[in-house]
Amino acid sequence: MRILVTGAAGFIGSNYVRYVLTEHPMDRVVALDKLTYAGNPANLAEFDGDPRYHFVHADICDAEAVGEALAGCDALVNFAAESHVDRSVMDPAAFVKTNVEGIRVLMEAARTHDVRRIVQVSTDEVYGHVPIGAAGEDARLAPRNPYSASKAGGELLALSYFTSFDLPVMVTRGANTIGPYQYPEKVVPVFVTNAMESEPLPIYGEGTAVRNYMHVADHCAGIDLVLRSGEPGAIFNVGVEFEVNTVTLATSILELLEKPRSLMRLIADRPGHDYRYSLDSSRLESLGWQPRYAFAEALAATVNWYVENEEWWRPIKSGSFRAYYERNYAARLANSRPVEAT
Ligand code: NAD
Ligand code: TYD
Repeated sequence: MRILVTGAAGFIGSNYVRYVLTEHPMDRVVALDKLTYAGNPANLAEFDGDPRYHFVHADICDAEAVGEALAGCDALVNFAAESHVDRSVMDPAAFVKTNVEGIRVLMEAARTHDVRRIVQVSTDEVYGHVPIGAAGEDARLAPRNPYSASKAGGELLALSYFTSFDLPVMVTRGANTIGPYQYPEKVVPVFVTNAMESEPLPIYGEGTAVRNYMHVADHCAGIDLVLRSGEPGAIFNVGVEFEVNTVTLATSILELLEKPRSLMRLIADRPGHDYRYSLDSSRLESLGWQPRYAFAEALAATVNWYVENEEWWRPIKSGSFRAYYERNYAARLANSRPVEAT
């Protein structure tokens, strides 16, 4: 199979390229990426010179470039997105452009080429806050921030190409993902790299928001199973059951790094904060998917990777990331509170 992987230089995309070329050594990958602040050629450097791999520097909104990259491909897996909630609250425009218009361009290109399998990678955030129970794929979509709303728009547009044009589209809705090469704006790499530098860990609100953190290898395996075995037109949740709140997450990271609890700081909450996500992934499990990593293993492996790969994250944190960090955190940290001992 020859697969066009868009958004391939980001966190999950680059891990997916690695997954495919390891698990399916006869496959070919065309990796396309705009290389925004979140895209990093270093994430894919190990494949330079591999005859099974080809990189295209392009925007998914560029119809001509997408058409050229898709020519000769059997499958498309789209990871390309503006992916961070806090940035979407600051400036939603790029989210609508890439996460909705970009999908239209990809689907139009897929119509004119003989693409047999298409996966649009979406998120559990499209369900919005889930106060109790677990969301199945038929649960109501109720996104509450510009990121999740744009992802919901993008996946619905992709699915409309299945019903309107018979395009073999499938959608995955993944839970929070952790592991190597995650840009240090998401909570786990922010906390790990800050802790390593003995900087404060900024915890939103009271630190009670709950997430299900899944190792990126498990997420990639789920997406790949959907690509190869999913029914066209179907949606698949990809998530683990274990729930952890932000204070517990921070505490675990500090313990792994042997750093003091005093680094935890409660700061003003994220606007529209979804306090809980939870997925029922039994549909994907019925295809044979099971997560391999327990939460503690996934977190320990992730922390270890950041400890061993400082040369990957230090240049990112000292560059343009600094301006974002100041804008998002500086004033809130100046008015922060400690976490009381429990
Ligand atoms: P990321 O921000 O690390 O990577 C996104 C990649 O897309 C980057 O390489 C970026 O350069 C590229 N990109 C952005 N705009 C582009 C455009 N217009 N054209 C081409 N490339 C473009 O994100 P990630 O965490 O790897 O997430 C990948 C996908 O998985 C996203 O669609 C996201 O919504 C989804 N997802 C992420 C998580 C998570 O926890 N990280 C969970 C569920 C779903
Ligand atoms: P995040 O990694 O942004 O993912 P999501 O898109 O699921 O919100 O945040 C995960 C959780 O961690 C969420 O409840 C918000 C919280 N959080 C903090 O408390 N501090 C931070 O600096 C960040 C980035 C997130």
